[in-house]
Amino acid sequence: MPELKLAARVGRIQPSATLALTARAKALRAEGQDVIALTAGEPDFETPIAIRNAAIDALKARGIVDRYTPASGLPQVRKAVADKFKRDNGLDYTPEQVMVSCGAKHNCFNVIAALVDDGDEVIIPAPYWVSYPEMVNFFGGRPVVVDTSSTGFVLTADALKKAITPKTKLVLLNSPGNPTGTVWSREAQQALADVLKDTSVYALSDEIYEKLVYDGEHVSFASLSQDAFERTITVNGVAKAYAMTGWRIGYAGGPMPIIAAMGALQSHSTSNPATVAQLATLTALAGDPVELPTWKKNFVTRRDMMVDGLNATTGVKCDRPGGAFYVFPDFREWLGKRHGDLVLKDDAIICEALLTRALVGGVPGSEFGAPGFVRFSYAESDDNIRKAVERIQKFGSELT
Ligand SMILES: Cc1ncc(COP(=O)(O)O)c(C=O)c1O
Repeated sequence: MPELKLAARVGRIQPSATLALTARAKALRAEGQDVIALTAGEPDFETPIAIRNAAIDALKARGIVDRYTPASGLPQVRKAVADKFKRDNGLDYTPEQVMVSCGAKHNCFNVIAALVDDGDEVIIPAPYWVSYPEMVNFFGGRPVVVDTSSTGFVLTADALKKAITPKTKLVLLNSPGNPTGTVWSREAQQALADVLKDTSVYALSDEIYEKLVYDGEHVSFASLSQDAFERTITVNGVAKAYAMTGWRIGYAGGPMPIIAAMGALQSHSTSNPATVAQLATLTALAGDPVELPTWKKNFVTRRDMMVDGLNATTGVKCDRPGGAFYVFPDFREWLGKRHGDLVLKDDAIICEALLTRALVGGVPGSEFGAPGFVRFSYAESDDNIRKAVERIQKFGSELT
């Protein structure tokens, strides 16, 4: 093998910690350990039957399903996305202002690729989704991380104003958020829109958990004013709302020149997302899944089991988030305590100990820019949630 010198840009990124920890928990299970992995970011429900049938019908009909589509998506899918944005979010995008990609992650990647040059600053409220800073680093940008843990995991206007410099290109918004599940109110978002109004900063609003709101309402940042609309790229997808994580369809709406640039990039990278998945998405986007109310009811039950159980655990504090399927408890009181021979020095060690000694998988808060916290996903069966909470409580009671 010739001497290997990987490109500098890959040296700036780390593999996804969430995916790595999920794989680790799965490996322990495969070895016969009774691990409950609360690590993954996907619903445990099946894709609705109507959507599966749409894919089967498309395959049986042959024709376009076998073929490439335009790189930014089939015209009828882009139209369905534009209709969805209008119906659900009050956003008036034309089909040319929207595009379809291989998951919302891919849309975010395209947005950052299209906007961020070397040295540009991108404001990222922490705790953040693990991929945001990595993507910014990949393109030579500088993540400017703003801690929101003392303001209820909500970015305040004041904190945003302080973080903006002449180099700021973009701010990343994510409500309901991963990892905290926090839903940002209309007023909180309006205050941010008011700050951006006098700047040249763009906003990426990642609304992938839109349909999983239990308390409060989902508000699309771009719907707040004409000014917000003109500076925002709204990203969403079918993964979480329709239990379609494996289908890899996300979509974005935004100013035409930005969508066109993202389309050009995509035309030289992945080309179109899989045609069969686009055709199934047409059925998905016709409306909310009939299963959604049941899914939400289940998620609320599980959320409450997690939150109540964690708050009854020695040294743990947990907010009750209004959306998504994560809780993000504060484990900082555990730091420095011992479990037998082990000192819990940081959240990585807490997660390692919970995984190997309590057989519960969680993701360290440091991965999301919030050391001392842990993310648990409650997209798991009620039984497993109950067992996981009991195990965490028992582990907590053994600390000295
Ligand atoms: C905040 C956030 N954005 C985007 C994504 C990716 O969604 P997709 O599966 O559509 O790529 C995730 C998935 O975990 C997420 O948590």
